[in-house]
Amino acid sequence: MDTRSCGRIRRAGLTLAAMIMTVAVTFVTPSYAADKEVIPSVAAPETKAAAVNADSKMVGAATCATCHAEKAEAFPKTFHGRKSLSNGKLANSCESCHGAGSAHVDGGGDIAKITNPKKLDGAAVADLCMTCHKEKALIMWKTGPHANNNVSCLNCHSIHEGEGRQSLKMGGTETCYQCHKKQKADMRLASHHPVPEGKMTCVSCHNPHGGIEGNLKTDSSEELCFKCHGDKAGPFAFEHPPVADGCTNCHKPHGSANDRLLKQNLPFLCLSCHRLPHAANRSGGAGQQISLNVIQQRARCTDCHNQIHGSDRKAGLKD
Ligand code: HEC
Ligand code: HEC
Ligand code: HEC
Ligand code: HEC
Ligand code: HEC
Ligand code: HEC
Ligand code: HEC
Ligand code: HEC
Ligand code: HEC
Ligand code: HEC
Repeated sequence: MDTRSCGRIRRAGLTLAAMIMTVAVTFVTPSYAADKEVIPSVAAPETKAAAVNADSKMVGAATCATCHAEKAEAFPKTFHGRKSLSNGKLANSCESCHGAGSAHVDGGGDIAKITNPKKLDGAAVADLCMTCHKEKALIMWKTGPHANNNVSCLNCHSIHEGEGRQSLKMGGTETCYQCHKKQKADMRLASHHPVPEGKMTCVSCHNPHGGIEGNLKTDSSEELCFKCHGDKAGPFAFEHPPVADGCTNCHKPHGSANDRLLKQNLPFLCLSCHRLPHAANRSGGAGQQISLNVIQQRARCTDCHNQIHGSDRKAGLKD
């Protein structure tokens, strides 16, 4: 290899690197910022100090039931009630969450003397729930985007009216669609992860309680994709660098108007990084002819480069 072609390769490498950086920057940072819809902030209810019933004594669930018969009957049938009452972790039953009730009862149901979690702000609700809940899934709660935007446990869970094992206010995905309209719209695009089909849900990928990056269940989006698309993980004998760098260089996670969740249609996606493919090819004119043919005939680059995620057999991302 002569020095001229070395220089050319290096230059091509540098330009590519620069292009990739531009792509990474425009795709990852600003486009997310630009995509970001403004989610109406959650109205902060008045915070009532947990001390409202500091002077009260425990009266027991049977007393509560004399006036709140409906709640008292329904509660042991909810998952929360059934499980927590049977394993003894809810020794004080209603008053574990609402606080001691004697003053409330003596006052004929004085609402100033009992805690209604619905009237607490997000942080106070979380403190209440997390006196008992120390699950691993909740570790990142306080630093997560939900907590930081005053989203409350009760935006998604309801102790008395919740559904199923997780006491969710509504079916899994609907819970999220309450606020995330953009992702709801993305899921209706021609290519999408099969969430609308019910084959997966938002929480197949996200931990609603927070995560290191983007509320994801894994530490990074690549690890996430590999969980289900392990065949793309490599290592390959012939890598395609942007794949190892991150699937979201080329794919959108939720939905896209382009096939295969691609950010751009082919060949434009490829041309965004490979401005002049085949030009540096030693076969010169013939190489350029390939590019011209592709563009003129609207052929897809992947008709030839069909091992786009990496190949163990041949260079050039081909079979
Ligand atoms: C003497 C009847 C009576 C008893 C006993 C009683 N309550 Fe109430 N409670 C009421 C009335 C009346 C209200 C206000 C009207 C309403 O919203 O239902 C109320 C409201 C509440 C509220 C809502 C407060 C708010 O800020 O909106 C909660 C929570 C509550 N009660 C919990 C309990 C618990 C827990 C017990 C048992 C420790 C209990 N109550 C026992 C009569 C009673
Ligand atoms: C695990 C915590 C927890 C336990 C135990 C619990 N509650 Fe509640 N309660 C809540 C939360 C949270 C709310 C707010 C609404 C919701 O999430 O369903 C609430 C709301 C209420 C309300 C007000 C309803 C309203 O519409 O504002 C009443 C009354 C009530 N609970 C009574 C009871 C009674 C009676 C019991 C015992 C049988 C009980 N609760 C047990 C957490 C609990
Ligand atoms: C006094 C303790 C206590 C408090 C307070 C409490 N919980 Fe629970 N919760 C339990 C227990 C006990 C269970 C049964 C599962 C277990 O033993 O871990 C449970 C179960 C659950 C589950 C189902 C978990 C599963 O395994 O699928 C959810 C969701 C939940 N709680 C949410 C909440 C929310 C939201 C709050 C606050 C409004 C709350 N809890 C407050 C004790 C509590
Ligand atoms: C943005 C919606 C959302 C918020 C806010 C939220 N949760 Fe959850 N929570 C969920 C969903 C959805 C699941 C079911 C997750 C799954 O199936 O993987 C869940 C599951 C749980 C579980 C069961 C965890 C397990 O390991 O199985 C507990 C306990 C729980 N939530 C408690 C809380 C508490 C406490 C808060 C507030 C600090 C809270 N959640 C806030 C949506 C939410
Ligand atoms: C009550 C409204 C509300 C609900 C319900 C809700 N979210 Fe959110 N979510 C928000 C807000 C507000 C933000 C912060 C938005 C921002 O930073 O622009 C957010 C941010 C996120 C993020 C972005 C994290 C990041 O770092 O950029 C993810 C992922 C997410 N939510 C997933 C979910 C999932 C999954 C559910 C259902 C289980 C859900 N949300 C339910 C309000 C909600
Ligand atoms: C196949 C996995 C997957 C599924 C399913 C999924 N997401 Fe995501 N989501 C991601 C990835 C990856 C990101 C990008 C995270 C990052 O920027 O690091 C993301 C980002 C987000 C964000 C931040 C804003 C944005 O669009 O980048 C929100 C909000 C969000 N998802 C909500 C949802 C909701 C709501 C659902 C269910 C309708 C859902 N997601 C389903 C993987 C998924
Ligand atoms: C929880 C499992 C799961 C995770 C995590 C996951 N996927 Fe998927 N993915 C699926 C399923 C299921 C399909 C649909 C397969 C089918 O229909 O044959 C799919 C399909 C796809 C498709 C093809 C879409 C089409 O239109 O044919 C692409 C591209 C894709 N996923 C990329 C990703 C990327 C990128 C990530 C990481 C951000 C990711 N997936 C994370 C389960 C997952
Ligand atoms: C350089 C761009 C690029 C990157 C980066 C990329 N892909 Fe793809 N991916 C494509 C193209 C182009 C197709 C469509 C191939 C076709 O239609 O012939 C595709 C198709 C897919 C498909 C559906 C078809 C199949 O082969 O199963 C899945 C799933 C997929 N990619 C997952 C991933 C995952 C996971 C990652 C990260 C490890 C990733 N992709 C990174 C360009 C890329
Ligand atoms: C985000 C930028 C980016 C995108 C998008 C991209 N590539 Fe690449 N591609 C690269 C980089 C970087 C290299 C390594 C260049 C080098 O080593 O000189 C590369 C190398 C290649 C190679 C040479 C592999 C080898 O073994 O010599 C082929 C062929 C290729 N890409 C085809 C494609 C096709 C086809 C697409 C569209 C589906 C595409 N690329 C999309 C960045 C990208
Ligand atoms: C008709 C088949 C064919 C099509 C279509 C095709 N290529 Fe190629 N490509 C090749 C062959 C053959 C080579 C290997 C040339 C060599 O090394 O002699 C190659 C090499 C490459 C290389 C690595 C070396 C270089 O010259 O840059 C890149 C990058 C590349 N192609 C990108 C693309 C892109 C982007 C598209 C779509 C615009 C595309 N190719 C369409 C056949 C094709």
